[in-house]
Amino acid sequence: MEKLLVHGGSRLNGTVAISGSKNSSLPIMAASLLTRERCVIRRVPDLSDTNYMVRILATLGANIERASGNVIINAEKISSQAPYDLVRKMRASVCVLGPLVGRLRSAVVSLPGGCVIGDRPIDLHLRGLEALGATVEVKGGDVSVCAADGLRGAEINMRGKHGSTVLGTGNVMMAAVLAKGQTIIEGAAAEPEVVDLATFLNAMGARIVGAGTRTIVIEGVDELGGAEHVVIPDRIEAGTFLIAGALVGDDVTLENVCSAHLRELIAFLKQSGHPVNELDGDRIHISAGVELRGNDLVTGPYPEFATDMQAQICALCATTPGISVVTEAIFPQRFMHVPELNRMGANIRMEDATAIIRGVDKLSAAPVMASDLRASAALVIAGLGAEGTTEVNRLYHIDRGYENIDDKLRRIGARVDRVKQ
Ligand code: EPU
Repeated sequence: MEKLLVHGGSRLNGTVAISGSKNSSLPIMAASLLTRERCVIRRVPDLSDTNYMVRILATLGANIERASGNVIINAEKISSQAPYDLVRKMRASVCVLGPLVGRLRSAVVSLPGGCVIGDRPIDLHLRGLEALGATVEVKGGDVSVCAADGLRGAEINMRGKHGSTVLGTGNVMMAAVLAKGQTIIEGAAAEPEVVDLATFLNAMGARIVGAGTRTIVIEGVDELGGAEHVVIPDRIEAGTFLIAGALVGDDVTLENVCSAHLRELIAFLKQSGHPVNELDGDRIHISAGVELRGNDLVTGPYPEFATDMQAQICALCATTPGISVVTEAIFPQRFMHVPELNRMGANIRMEDATAIIRGVDKLSAAPVMASDLRASAALVIAGLGAEGTTEVNRLYHIDRGYENIDDKLRRIGARVDRVKQ
């Protein structure tokens, strides 16, 4: 196991190149199961999560080559069963369900296990597949989905208790592209990753309109062909570096970003007093503000504030003067970073799914335990601004979603060391 030593006190200066999106790459790689032809996916970040997806696709029978951010997938002959030992390692493995049932008319996928960020059911995915005419059975830890006579287009409402579902929308969209007739998904997730998936599917020959809105309409086609695609920039990695820049940046520029995907975060940082400049559509400049004030936010489905940036914002607000109020509306239990930030001297009090953060002057370094991907990123950010050397343990969490994070941080002046435990 590895840990990251974050030596606080350095200022950040320079340019960071943002990688391709993890959460786009995963369903897009799964979507290449829908064709026998070759698919080329570019700018896939080299992360443990994308490596798991490569292994799952290979276990299903796909032939995969991977080099310099390009993943070439040839799924000429595939089987319909995704095994537990791989699926349990990554919840997003569930997005092979839609393409498998769409192409092979049956799929058996182990149910993903629990997750530290809260209860993460897949009832909406299954409800969508049932609406397309599949039968669903959960047995022995596996979910079996079968549509012996093929899927039929339908009207489906994907809205759940916490709003829309991103991977659920993707799963149903991937199943519906090969269904007979028209599918209308209401209450669809509008995240940029759903739009990216639809762009890839359309390049394969699918007929999808409305991705990026709450209503997606899909006209089923008989078959899909190979396609090439460049994955969109990772808005959560970009957001994480923006937040680090707001905390300890003198002059930080992010490149390869899509600033339109970061509207809510940029507005939040500006309102808090940090100068953020969108240099052009794909470069953003940030430095730490001087006159800062506490600020409030509530996470929500896109285009609202992303839950995946809530932990990092808590780390920033921990030393922002005044009171900040951060409410989590997507995963109400996603606050494992709070006790760790408090161990570093933060003053954060929880009231249900709301963190009430009273800004302190400075945090002090401590050994801290990362419990999930974004919580780990929050602790690294906190360490950059803290006095002393913060030890972020269980680094494998951060390697699931941030490509070369320690190299990227070092290149802009952070002092961080990855060491074996
Ligand atoms: N939900 C249900 N039933 C379902 C599916 C979801 O009740 O069948 C609920 C969830 O429990 C949650 C809400 O709906 O309260 C939204 O969950 P969603 O399904 O949208 O999450 P996801 O698709 O499983 C993706 C990202 C997450 C990100 C969420 C929300 C990927 C691989 N994962 O998960 O990313 O937090 O959308 O934006 O795309 C991360 O990258 O750190 C991460 C956790």
